[in-house]
Amino acid sequence: MRAILKTKAAIVGALMASTTVAAAGDVEVLHWWTSGGEAAALNVLKQDLEGQGIGWTDMPVAGGGGEQAMTVLRARVTAGNAPTAVQGLGFDILDWGNQGALADLNEVAAKEGWDDVVPDALKAFAKVDGKWVSAPVNVHSTNWVWANKAVLDANGIGVPTNWEEFTAALDTLKAAGITPIAHGGQAWQEATVFDAIAMSVLGPDGYKAAFIDLDEETLGSDAMKEAFDRMAVIRANVDDNFSGRDWNLATAMVINGEAGFQMMGDWAKGEFLNAGKVPGEDFLCFRFPGTTEQVTFNADQFMMFDQGGAVSTEQAALASAILSPSFQSAFNVVKGSVPARTDVSDADFDACGKQGMKDLAAAAASGNLFGSMAHGHAAPASVKNAIYDVVTAHFNGEYDSQTAVEELVDAVSIAK
Ligand code: GAL
Repeated sequence: MRAILKTKAAIVGALMASTTVAAAGDVEVLHWWTSGGEAAALNVLKQDLEGQGIGWTDMPVAGGGGEQAMTVLRARVTAGNAPTAVQGLGFDILDWGNQGALADLNEVAAKEGWDDVVPDALKAFAKVDGKWVSAPVNVHSTNWVWANKAVLDANGIGVPTNWEEFTAALDTLKAAGITPIAHGGQAWQEATVFDAIAMSVLGPDGYKAAFIDLDEETLGSDAMKEAFDRMAVIRANVDDNFSGRDWNLATAMVINGEAGFQMMGDWAKGEFLNAGKVPGEDFLCFRFPGTTEQVTFNADQFMMFDQGGAVSTEQAALASAILSPSFQSAFNVVKGSVPARTDVSDADFDACGKQGMKDLAAAAASGNLFGSMAHGHAAPASVKNAIYDVVTAHFNGEYDSQTAVEELVDAVSIAK
């Protein structure tokens, strides 16, 4: 099953076809890693398992951020046909764990000492009632900017260190006839941009108050209005064809020099690498101005669905492969993320990866590590989706900033 699924009809088709897959001794893996860079990283895992004699039944559901994949998953579980392993994020994992749908991985976790090497921020989304229910693959973060170095050099632009320098760079690029910001108009991508913008304007305490504690006052504050004003500036600096564009096609615009910057999580780096580009030479990575000390993270994990009885040999082997230090290095070097274990060397990582690992450790130590609102690590899906709706409506000109703030307060209070 190699089809990349997008439409509802395709999802239904996949559900019907999938009843025939996954022979005993295989794992069926549902995931949304369908871009070039993502597929290259996934191959590292596939090959690892195949090396152990475990077959891989692929169940890809396209759609960055995983919304479509989660729709397919719900239908599969409802039909009593859950895949063996499913890519999951944050609160979604807790939700399935609390429903009792996930297998208990404690035996393999204890044998391999996961508790000692996986950071607490990740454990909070991998364990339910003291039970490991999923295997953390990586740590991504959303407050990054990706830039085409030649484009910046040709226009006399250095790495911007604050909002004013960033907007000055956007103006320069626009005047030169280059799309300042490559963007894909999908709600999750707008929310990803909003993660960084909100962090820079509200600061770490404000970000936490708004998106994790869901504090009404912060959600309705003047600072939040300023964050929306800045989103309008971003909107004014994207091209006319942004609507509906996939994130990796936006990354390609930066790779090709059609655009200067993309604000996106570090899965974007996987696309640069897959295109043979080198950090520091062809492209630059830097934290969104005003968020250099903060990390808004999302960690991909594989949830192991309970197949009725103890965790299967194949599920345990997959979990064990995922957590092995050599896999954590090999996979994350390709994916653009950083390891989900604290004891993996940064030797094989490029400059952006080394910075990512350093930033993560520093942010965790200084209380500057926060779950990404856009990628399901700040609040449950209902709240996340409510925020998405407001952010995307504002981005598309339906609300002015003041209305957006009011709508945000209402939407979150209804959803929580
Ligand atoms: C994120 C996921 C990343 C990346 C991205 C775009 O939610 O954590 O691994 O795949 O979506 O698809």
